[in-house]
Amino acid sequence: MPVSDAAAVRTAGREHADRGLAPCRPLLKWPGGKRSELPLIAPRIPEHSRYFEPFFGGGSVYFAAIDAESFANDLHPDLMEFYRCVKHNDERFFQHLYSIVDDWERASLVGRDAIYYDCRDRYNASPPTTAQRAADFFLLRELAYGGMFRVNANGHFNVPFGQAYAKNKNLREKVDHLRSDAAVAKMKRLNLSALDFADFLDGFEFRPADFMFVDPPYDSSFSKYDTLDFTEQDQRRLAKALMQFTGRFMLVCKATPLIEDLYHGAEHLRVHHYEYQYKFNIKGRFSRSSTHAMITNYEAAPAAREAS
Ligand SMILES: C[S@@+](CC[C@H](N)C(=O)[O-])C[C@H]1O[C@@H](n2cnc3c(N)ncnc32)[C@H](O)[C@@H]1O
Repeated sequence: MPVSDAAAVRTAGREHADRGLAPCRPLLKWPGGKRSELPLIAPRIPEHSRYFEPFFGGGSVYFAAIDAESFANDLHPDLMEFYRCVKHNDERFFQHLYSIVDDWERASLVGRDAIYYDCRDRYNASPPTTAQRAADFFLLRELAYGGMFRVNANGHFNVPFGQAYAKNKNLREKVDHLRSDAAVAKMKRLNLSALDFADFLDGFEFRPADFMFVDPPYDSSFSKYDTLDFTEQDQRRLAKALMQFTGRFMLVCKATPLIEDLYHGAEHLRVHHYEYQYKFNIKGRFSRSSTHAMITNYEAAPAAREAS
């Protein structure tokens, strides 16, 4: 299943149209987003009555392909406060964003650096987690170099301004998108929480018609989300929870020896592999291509459709 397969892309588009979905661009930039893998993922989503995503991040699958009542969780508190503000059209959040957008549009290209660094200072000095902090967090996600997460020993976000890539950004369009009809409709159906995935899963009685898309941090040393570390122990906790899951799930992850060890051989699981091409190669830290695994507890290979 090569990700770049044009036939798979066409298939995903047809599937969306067939289901009458109203896709929406994700609301913010998020590392590890699954947008480019959608052509493989979307056609393999089974019919479902409720949708769950314990590692929501930028929610690319939800925004592109899901219509049902949905439950989004991510341990990152600023991220989930951001979604809460968007969902509830929080006045302080949008006032703060639009005042920065006004400054951005008035500033020269050179002056835009200062807006970014003011935003970063304010974010680092603010208590967790307020509407203004969530607004600054959103802007940092858009404007930081390489869309990176990095904090220093004091836990302060220290990624520099994205310069050439960020300077010409149309920030107003990015903020307007948060209030677009498509975004409002999507957010209405989304229930939000900011828990560890195991606590999130404990909160439900899952039924066979439930579907869960599982996209955890990769099993690698570069999968740190801000200050959140996902260890081997966490991968093991997740595998245990998935083995007992009573709805249907799809797990997408890098195929490392640990992942193979945790999931191979379980009779009720199906494991497919595909090559994933990374778009970025920042300072040589990411290989350009790696093997990913799609693991499901249902038959998820629409072979006839894929071939067309
Ligand atoms: C690969 S990303 C998800 C990307 C997402 N599917 C998308 O399309 O943007 C993994 C996410 O897991 C979150 N995370 C890390 N540790 C977690 C934990 N213990 N419980 C829940 N979420 C966690 C991170 O904050 C990150 O957003």
